[in-house]
Amino acid sequence: MAEKRSIIHVEGGYPLSGHVTVEGAKNSALKLMAATLMAPGVTTLTNVPDNSDVHTMGKVLSKLGARITVCDAHTLQIDTSDVKSWVTPYELVVKMRASTAVLGPLLARFGKAVVGMPGGCKIGARKVDMHMMGLSALGVDFQIGHGNIHASAPGGLKGCSVTLEFPSVGATENLLMAGALAHGKTVIDNAACEPEIVDLATMLNEMGASITGAGTPVIEIEGVRELSPVTHGVIGDRIEAGTFVAAAGLVGDPVRVHGFNPDHLGLVLKKYEAMGISIKRIEDGLLVFREGSLLPTSIQTLPFPGFPTDLQAQTMVLLALAEGDSVVTENIFENRFMMAAELNRMGAHIRIEGHHALIQGVAGFSGAPVEGPDLRAGAALVLAGLVADGYTDVSGVEYIHRGYERFTDKLRGLGAHVEEIEVE
Ligand code: UD1
Repeated sequence: MAEKRSIIHVEGGYPLSGHVTVEGAKNSALKLMAATLMAPGVTTLTNVPDNSDVHTMGKVLSKLGARITVCDAHTLQIDTSDVKSWVTPYELVVKMRASTAVLGPLLARFGKAVVGMPGGCKIGARKVDMHMMGLSALGVDFQIGHGNIHASAPGGLKGCSVTLEFPSVGATENLLMAGALAHGKTVIDNAACEPEIVDLATMLNEMGASITGAGTPVIEIEGVRELSPVTHGVIGDRIEAGTFVAAAGLVGDPVRVHGFNPDHLGLVLKKYEAMGISIKRIEDGLLVFREGSLLPTSIQTLPFPGFPTDLQAQTMVLLALAEGDSVVTENIFENRFMMAAELNRMGAHIRIEGHHALIQGVAGFSGAPVEGPDLRAGAALVLAGLVADGYTDVSGVEYIHRGYERFTDKLRGLGAHVEEIEVE
């Protein structure tokens, strides 16, 4: 019997209008869930997005002994009282690299952790050397064996100063969590400044931690003896919001995007305005539409507050239709231009040279079957389908489910002709 798989089927040519509300930030929720391990008891997280990465983190925590109660679609109660294991198997880490976020919390709670060693993924090698370098400075010994990272802090975690080689989001988060329960003071220099780091530090402080400077390159943490469970709301997802802003920039008539803090998209909005997209602030979000042509521009991805790599593919779709030439430079992941070849199959003119994409704007796309190579690129190809001539079938839907809740429903709510269907 032929195997079934899902695709997203898009009929292009219908304008979008109305309003859409984004969910809580996936990249924040995953780390907040991991941090509950550090406060034995019941932590309640609200505004948690219902996507497959969150489900995977739920499995990681359950495997460790946590009990998770789904109170409603977006509220989780995580009871970490009986967590007794410190072992996260490779099967879960390979499914979702962010499972490594339990490393710091497990070390803080048990003084030891075994976590599957993540391999590379499609968008790049994605090493964990900076996580390990930072934690080593806090007194953690590492052994790599049989595909696992074995970490232990025999003398306990000891605060110290760590300078990161690069402001890695994941390394900053692991250090933030480990430092919160270390003896003495930890300073993270060249820390990542992403809003999700601020959300994590905010919840840890609500739990009783003493962290200052989150959101700046220097974070100072005075270690405390224990943390207590709290109720915390996840911040809105700036990347989901940016994806809908991009969609509205393509065919918005207008679209209101709610449920997030527009300050988290600062540079993105400036670039989009330079591309001819009209953006107005409204309460709790933005109103987006476009009257004239799309204009070319250049973007380069950088750590926050630079242009986010997670919006690079969606923006490339806009630039591929701009009146002129643009350059996109990817500085975060070494293999994040896989979508360009698929977009070229729809009529785009994009040439990749190293970490630059040279884009010659075209008048339109023609619908085609395409393969979404990763989470954001998959969503970007759906956006391309919205303005393509005819039908576009996007495969790789399982990636889209990792980070977007009800993506096709939300687009349909705005008037798009799009549906997820099973094919053989
Ligand atoms: C997080 C986000 C991801 C986003 C990325 C950059 C989550 C779950 N994911 O990923 O959506 O695209 O930030 O904003 O929050 N690196 C090393 N060694 C390390 C750590 C990182 O070489 O120890 C490299 C990575 O391979 C990558 C770059 O540093 O090239 C940035 O990675 P990092 O900021 O750590 O991203 P993630 O935390 O993995």
